[in-house]
Amino acid sequence: MSRKKIIAGNWKMYKSQSEAIALTAAIAEGISHQPPTAEVWIAPPFLYVAKLISQFGNSGLAFGAQDCSAHDEGAYTGEISASMLHSLHARFVLVGHSERRAYHQETDIQIALKIDAALRNGITAVYCCGETLDERNTGRHFDIVRAQVSEALFHLPALAFEKIVIAYEPVWAIGTGVTASPEQAQEMHAFIRSLIEQQFDTALAAQLSILYGGSVKPNNAATLFAQPDIDGALVGGASLVASDFLSIIAAG
Ligand code: 13P
Repeated sequence: MSRKKIIAGNWKMYKSQSEAIALTAAIAEGISHQPPTAEVWIAPPFLYVAKLISQFGNSGLAFGAQDCSAHDEGAYTGEISASMLHSLHARFVLVGHSERRAYHQETDIQIALKIDAALRNGITAVYCCGETLDERNTGRHFDIVRAQVSEALFHLPALAFEKIVIAYEPVWAIGTGVTASPEQAQEMHAFIRSLIEQQFDTALAAQLSILYGGSVKPNNAATLFAQPDIDGALVGGASLVASDFLSIIAAG
């Protein structure tokens, strides 16, 4: 068994309901004409998850959410739990996105609890990590990513990795139009895989899907995907335009 290739769209806080339906319909239509080699995952805003699953759940797309609570239920106003997502048949949840770390002060410890919540409810956790520009410019990027990966994932049993995907998203590449070069991305992906190999084992590390995120566009997707340790992409802006997302899917 080889590891999965995944092209995932993170819609962030974009699209009205009718736009979300139209975009999903266009993506579903596109992949029906050209069946992808990669799995295609979509993380719309919470509000649309149920609707899109009921309308497009059988069209070859997997749906998930952009965040979840660390708790299964309780008096947590405004929060959404992984058990609720599971009840909608959501397949995955993004955890630890840099925008949540930056704007909601999420720490690796809290993120680890969210990963536990996802796994407890049978949902794949897509763990997002990555350094800032300052951290890279001062040569600390490997240390930062090592700390992020170890604090969020090293407490897990090896079996849990069946439902873990890692997304390496350098903060300086997100929404900036500046993509990590294929060599920079490959170097960090290989490093992340080596961390998992050292902590767990070679077979587990070899099965793990590690996605790259940060200004993935139709014109750079193929060279990124050609790297041996890049197993797909977590796409922001370009996943909001059906033709762009379909081009990236075709490059997978
Ligand atoms: P962009 O593709 O817009 O840079 O966003 C990447 C991202 O944050 C995906 O989670």
